[in-house]
Amino acid sequence: MKSKSQLKEHIQHPIFKIITQAATDLKVDAYVIGGFVRDIILNRPCKDIDVVAIGSGIELAERVAKLIGKNTTVKVFKNFGTAMLMYQDYEIEFVGARKESYDRGSRKPIVEDGTLEDDQNRRDFTINALAISLNEKTFGELLDPFGGLIDIEKKIIQTPLNPDITYSDDPLRMMRAIRFATQLNFTIENESLQAIRKNRQRIRIVSKERITDELNKIILSSTPSIGFKHLFNTGLLEIIFPEMANLHGVEFIGNKGHKDNFYHTIKVLDNICPNTDNLWLRWAAILHDIAKPATKRFEENHGWTFHGHEDKGARMVPSIFKELKLPLDHKMKYVQKLVRLHLRPIALVKDNVSDSAMRRLLFDAGEDIDDLLTLCNADITSKNEEKVKKYMDNFKLVEKKLKEVEEKDQMRNWQPPISGELIMETFKISPCREVGTIKSAIREAIIDGELENNYDAAFQFMLKLGKELNLNSEA
Ligand code: CTP
Repeated sequence: MKSKSQLKEHIQHPIFKIITQAATDLKVDAYVIGGFVRDIILNRPCKDIDVVAIGSGIELAERVAKLIGKNTTVKVFKNFGTAMLMYQDYEIEFVGARKESYDRGSRKPIVEDGTLEDDQNRRDFTINALAISLNEKTFGELLDPFGGLIDIEKKIIQTPLNPDITYSDDPLRMMRAIRFATQLNFTIENESLQAIRKNRQRIRIVSKERITDELNKIILSSTPSIGFKHLFNTGLLEIIFPEMANLHGVEFIGNKGHKDNFYHTIKVLDNICPNTDNLWLRWAAILHDIAKPATKRFEENHGWTFHGHEDKGARMVPSIFKELKLPLDHKMKYVQKLVRLHLRPIALVKDNVSDSAMRRLLFDAGEDIDDLLTLCNADITSKNEEKVKKYMDNFKLVEKKLKEVEEKDQMRNWQPPISGELIMETFKISPCREVGTIKSAIREAIIDGELENNYDAAFQFMLKLGKELNLNSEA
């Protein structure tokens, strides 16, 4: 925690003196407010500075730009009454202090000029309502009307006003509360949690892009399960991402139950976090069992089964990505691929797995094999520590064997030695089904170890296949 003099240290950068000068010139008061103040207390680096002026934020920004000189440009957002400028690597946003009231149907407030206190009142959380004075006489003083400093110390998220009002005014704040609790490992105060639960349906007035933005920040935290538990318990998950909420619950027939796939999934997600910052690999962890509810069956002899959940899950990915406004490009394809293949490495945990099964997986996974193995490793969860250890050890063996086969056969970026063009040229045919048949037969034969992986062997094999298909070649 920072003392007052240490706080001052953080506003020693020349930009703050320039703002003070500009505010003095214009005879307005100015404060740094919000995330920047919170983050210096938390020791988190932050390059976005929000400045609130008790007067016109735009005029203050223009004055600051003038003092900086060097053709500093101010971007003015007239509709919002805000202005932004860049100074070195800081992005500084200026706004006039305001008082807001909200219309129930939208997140757009009716804005009036206000005092610093009014401005602090309208903010989402006490930890985001801290302000530091940039005024000559009080430079560096902390203004903390709601005990935000104590809340940072106690690691608590709570709202400055009645939480029912704060969340209902701007329902995105429900996502923000959960996101901050996850990123900072803070507790959400109980009344806030109740207010979120009560106002959960209002999340529907928030754009999907903004919701997903927050969701991705939760996913990119070091322990995303914190956020997902809150999302589930408040009922928000069911609204914003029902497929995932649907993973929750255990069904019993007789004394046979199955894993709760929601808690399993968030455990897998937490497990994968130390090993990757790749958002899409984390999404693959979230979605790897997404089709378990849809494929669940009870079989007398086996108990609960989820046959085909990997294929069905991969097929569910596009509609989920579309609904959540996630990209529908190669990133989605990558997630689909990992979901589809997520059981394959585990299936190799048998004593006498052939090299060809290894080669096939290496070929199918291609350059994503390492990510697939990271996912599979994270997927090993059990309450029984011994079981986990045993699976992990077996899995390490599979990884080792895959590595050996990879080094020997270089399957990762392997392309079969005979191309479709060569097949068409040899048999004087245009693109048709036979070309694909021959191409995949050659590929399969090499992966299976029945055919040597070289041009000559593959060429002879192609001629033989062509003959069987009644194709003519002059070769
Ligand atoms: N704010 C708010 N309600 C919102 C969004 C923002 O009251 N729905 C206020 C908060 O005081 C916040 C400030 O506006 O600190 C700046 O918001 P923003 O830049 O979105 O977030 P930060 O708090 O700076 O955090 P981060 O950069 O991690 O998003």
